[in-house]
Amino acid sequence: MTKFIDSPYVTNMREVTRESYLRYWDERNGGNVSYRLLPEEVETYEDVMEVSATYELGFDAPALAGYYYLVTGTGRYFRNVYARPTLDLGLIKISEDGQKYDVVWGFEDGGKPTSEFPSHLMSHIERLKVNPDQRVVFHCHPTNLVALSFTQELSERNLSRLLWKMQAESIVVFPEGIGVIPYMTPGTNEIGEATAAKMSEFQAVLWPHHGVFAAGTSLDETYGLIEVLEKAAMIYSQIGAQGGNIKQEITDQQLQEIAEYFGMTPHEGFLEL
Ligand code: 13P
Ligand code: ZN
Repeated sequence: MTKFIDSPYVTNMREVTRESYLRYWDERNGGNVSYRLLPEEVETYEDVMEVSATYELGFDAPALAGYYYLVTGTGRYFRNVYARPTLDLGLIKISEDGQKYDVVWGFEDGGKPTSEFPSHLMSHIERLKVNPDQRVVFHCHPTNLVALSFTQELSERNLSRLLWKMQAESIVVFPEGIGVIPYMTPGTNEIGEATAAKMSEFQAVLWPHHGVFAAGTSLDETYGLIEVLEKAAMIYSQIGAQGGNIKQEITDQQLQEIAEYFGMTPHEGFLEL
């Protein structure tokens, strides 16, 4: 029987954390990922059933009772995940009362899930209501997106419009725009609650002066969303580097036309038509 370390889920996590690290989105221990796996996907592996540790969640998550999450460890470096997945990744199972979780694979040197676990799990709860197929929450520190949070007005409408106008297909990938919370202390239940509240409306939420939280059905799709957001922010930075003098732009009417062509509905009130 194959070991869980050879499963496509661990392989996918190793690859995507390496990619994100190589893009400078995860310096030191920056960034974290949680990936929900279905019981039938994990319970076939003989090496995932033994409980190595049990911890309190610190908040109530009855909506996630019995769910499995493959998650990055707190304080662990994305740079290292590829080479040492059994140390820097763990598979956890939420208890039936939604108060605790068991470590059933990984974290072999005593690691624990990311300090941003409240934001991850609270976001999962919200995204499951929007689309039960969504399984992934990804947090990282994309350079140009974070830079925007210093130079731009921090409104969802303003930032969504700016990112939509940087490349033709932004609006197709995130027609709902980008959510924004105020600057808050990372790792707290409070930032988790604020992020999750935005996740009911947006698939990506900017944490000013820190990074981004994004959700999606797969690692590919979620990482792809961050790629598109960051690419748009990078183009904005490059426009600045070229003197910042915008001579022509994608109009609101053209954005509406792209969205319509691809069957998307842009966030109400964000376009001026
Ligand atoms: P962790 O090492 O606990 O995952 O924290 C990294 C991070 O990016 C905090 O926002
Ligand atoms: Zn962070």
